Amino acid sequence: MTTDAVIETRNLTKVYRDFWGRKKVDALKSLNLTVQRGEIFGLLGPNGSGKTTSIKLLLGLLFPSNGEALVLGKPASDVAKNERIGYLPEESYLYRFLNAEETLDFYGRLFDISGKERRKRIDSLIQQVGLNRARKRVLKEYSKGMTRRIGVAQALINDPELILLDEPTSGLDPLGTREMKDLIRSLRDEGKTVVLCSHLLADVQDVCDRIAILHQGELKELGRVSDLLSIQDMTEIKVGGLSDEAKEEIRQVVARHNGNLVSMGHPSTTLEDLFLKIIRESEAHPGRRYLPEREGEQPTEPPVSSN
Ligand SMILES: Nc1ncnc2c1ncn2[C@@H]1O[C@H](COP(=O)(O)OP(=O)(O)O)[C@@H](O)[C@H]1O
Ligand SMILES: [Mg+2]
Repeated sequence: MTTDAVIETRNLTKVYRDFWGRKKVDALKSLNLTVQRGEIFGLLGPNGSGKTTSIKLLLGLLFPSNGEALVLGKPASDVAKNERIGYLPEESYLYRFLNAEETLDFYGRLFDISGKERRKRIDSLIQQVGLNRARKRVLKEYSKGMTRRIGVAQALINDPELILLDEPTSGLDPLGTREMKDLIRSLRDEGKTVVLCSHLLADVQDVCDRIAILHQGELKELGRVSDLLSIQDMTEIKVGGLSDEAKEEIRQVVARHNGNLVSMGHPSTTLEDLFLKIIRESEAHPGRRYLPEREGEQPTEPPVSSN
């Protein structure tokens, strides 16, 4: 294992078989990859591409059909290493009749964390995942997003070095998604290694340092997100405050150099950013609404309500 590798897989392969041992699905085919300490690594792929299978193999919850994996310097089958790992399964299996505090306390006890330390961690994790107002509510009343958050807090209760998150943003609204991404980045800032899998491009693009793209159990692409997304033979120019003459001059310069002006104009924001801006503005100014009047007119503000 190279010095700072946290995960290393060699020809990791999983074939699911049926009851009679007949081959059913080639879920993962000869996967070779290395995850370095301190990075956020994304496994990206459509449904059924082998992401969950990969994570379960790393945890030793499944036995490989071929090949091997080293995790934190130990064979993946050595489940004792899992004490240093946090795991958010695709579907969280939590006790529906416990509240957030009780849930975390239960998992803290499983890891033999002392009472004093448990209370400290539970408090800080509940804050970290934004469940402070719901900490005494039983989980059966939680929304999908809240369930995801308590699942993450549970995955972090043992202060793990390596965190495996299976579809961490599934079921979250855009605000919850942003908060989850911020949380994942803050884990990296604490020096932890995060491996997440997702079928959502935007989530992986925003948060991961490196990604692997899986399709039908095969690794299709691997690299730094910035490298994979940068279009090498394109130049993007963004300038503020240019006069019309200056813009015309730039067009001429591009033409003189035989360049092909693909676009020059106002860059647009993403829907995610726009949505978040609207929500935050709405929180800062409750009661202000968008009231379409006539076409082409700016939205007007309603009169300030008295309550
Ligand atoms: N327990 C199982 N038995 C048989 N086939 C399975 C089992 N679990 C997953 N598969 C199959 O393996 C493939 C990969 O599944 P999975 O790893 O869950 O994909 P992903 O997480 O990328 O959606 C799929 O074709 C899926 O149907
Ligand atoms: Mg999956």
